[in-house]
Amino acid sequence: MRFPPSFLDEIRARLPVSEVVGRRVKLKKQGREFAGLSPFNAEKTPSFFVNDQKGFYHCFSSGKHGDVFDFLMETEGLPFGEAVERLASMAGLQVPQASPEAAAKEERRRTLHEVMELAARHFEATLQTRLGAKARGYLADRGLGPLTQQRFRLGYASADRFHLKEALGKLGVSTEDMVETGLLISGDDIPVPYDRFRDRVMFPITDMKGRVVAFGGRALEKDVPAKYLNSPETTLFHKGSLLYNGFSARAAAQKSGRVIAVEGYVDVIAMVEAGFGATVAPLGTALTEEQLQLLWRMADEPVLLFDGDKAGRKAAHRAIDLALPHLKAGRSLSFATLPEGQDPDDLIRRSGPDAMADVLAQARPLAAELWARESEQASLDTPERRAGLEARLKEVVAVIADETVRKHYGQELSERFRALIAPAAGAARQGGFQRRDGGRGGRFAPREAPLVPRGGEIAKSALVRGPMAAMPRNEALLLFCLINHSFLLDEASEDVAGLPLANPDADRLRRLLLEAHLEGLDDEALSARLGQADIEALAQRVRALANPRHDWPAYSDTAPSDVRLWWHQRTALHRKAHALSRELREAERSLGDDPSEQNFAWLRDVRERLSAIDGTEALVEGFGASSGRASARSV
Ligand code: UTP
Ligand code: MN
Repeated sequence: MRFPPSFLDEIRARLPVSEVVGRRVKLKKQGREFAGLSPFNAEKTPSFFVNDQKGFYHCFSSGKHGDVFDFLMETEGLPFGEAVERLASMAGLQVPQASPEAAAKEERRRTLHEVMELAARHFEATLQTRLGAKARGYLADRGLGPLTQQRFRLGYASADRFHLKEALGKLGVSTEDMVETGLLISGDDIPVPYDRFRDRVMFPITDMKGRVVAFGGRALEKDVPAKYLNSPETTLFHKGSLLYNGFSARAAAQKSGRVIAVEGYVDVIAMVEAGFGATVAPLGTALTEEQLQLLWRMADEPVLLFDGDKAGRKAAHRAIDLALPHLKAGRSLSFATLPEGQDPDDLIRRSGPDAMADVLAQARPLAAELWARESEQASLDTPERRAGLEARLKEVVAVIADETVRKHYGQELSERFRALIAPAAGAARQGGFQRRDGGRGGRFAPREAPLVPRGGEIAKSALVRGPMAAMPRNEALLLFCLINHSFLLDEASEDVAGLPLANPDADRLRRLLLEAHLEGLDDEALSARLGQADIEALAQRVRALANPRHDWPAYSDTAPSDVRLWWHQRTALHRKAHALSRELREAERSLGDDPSEQNFAWLRDVRERLSAIDGTEALVEGFGASSGRASARSV
């Protein structure tokens, strides 16, 4: 920071060097000067002199020479700016803005902060009016009641293109300021700037001082491009260097000593409401290095809790690479895994805070996550491939800047590597890695337990399997059909095993059915097994989701030929819908990051393909005839 020279002169004028130096060195007047023992060197006869008129000190023993600022910098190790501040307060002076331009800029920022605060209040107020009824209903449906709305200052931006603009205009806010804060959309081809956020639930985003600097807007309607719309980069807002809820989370982290990063705004809110106050999220982009540094300022080992899907795993892998170069002794990351297809909000709503605590308790250290990433797909059946993995591990470790941490990573990974290839090497091989305990209960226990308990493991946990878990109707129907027509397990067992099932319970039931089939249970034995207490409850849930009028082919009295047809079509559609809904998420995310024409077209295309599937019915010539039905449509 540059200080106006006149201000520095003022300090020099007000503070005699002898006064500043005298606080540290005993000085004795000698003519026009002061003399004392050098603060820089141990000595018996004074060789240190201060001249107030000339405004400097001089040390004959060390050759050091300077003014009051130099003295503080030399003796206290302060940077110049801090020396100036210290001396200014000693002199009873207020530190001015460094330059008129900087002062003007500061002033401008202040007014822009005020504009954002006014906007936040406007959205908050609108949410509570008649206009916000739909949004309040939406929030209530998501379990975000009035208290939560207040706590997170949630708001609503009306569908009207000029609602905010007019409201703030009446308060004296200029259009220019609204454009600069990203509240309005403007441009050469836009004659009249208009509200950026329309018909959206508004999530205010604050800086680390708690001032509102941006907004995230969640669409209420399904057919809106970009599920979330965020403020653009502005003077106040740099999305890569802030975290959603960062301000409150820092305070919470100070008490709890930990911080959790999730992917979405609603996830943060659900976490905080569930008692995990120190939770943050990036702002519509992947975690950045700056955000990682922020996390490390809150806790030594932030927990990354990303969604239980491919995108979430990708984000975790990216974070590993981001973190590796910066690891220090005691400074790392850990990774918690959610059940497949769930985000933190889903898990808390379905299974409660205890299930979340369980997931967090199972968080894995970075080293384990890294090992999993590198070793998971690696095939190790040839010496070349094993060498490939070993080389990759070396490369990864090499990016760790801290020498000690790097050494420990090298050791741990090579130990894991040797443990992994030990069985391949065989007991006869000389010098191979041999576990003295026969591989049982070792540190990494590579053979007995999977090194990486993926979503599936956690999904089996009783806590996650709460009675509230909603099962997609389609998944329930397919399972219901399998229960009623076990011949499908004969004819299509691979098909059944490979079916993508998002719901953990659905997955569990499928596995049970497949097991029962492998054991050769007949229909009667199967239904006896389903009769067992907790499985029966599951099967009951599956039955409850079927509708005899629409889903008659899944019921037991349908002819096998109709069942087969129905099953093949239903599973094909299910797989297609599953793939498409993943693609939909990706397309939405891309559009949010980069609202280009191309991304918009992509999203539209995925939507069209999805709705085409929704309308598809099992309509085949003669379908239903063998079951005594004229056609699928006539029922
Ligand atoms: P998700 O797609 O996982 O949504 O995006 P979510 O958080 O579960 O949201 P809900 O529960 O459907 O409301 C995770 C985060 O990615 C950003 C947002 O920050 C969101 O919270 N995002 C997502 C965007 O910025 N734009 C989008 O279009 C979608
Ligand atoms: Mn969500």
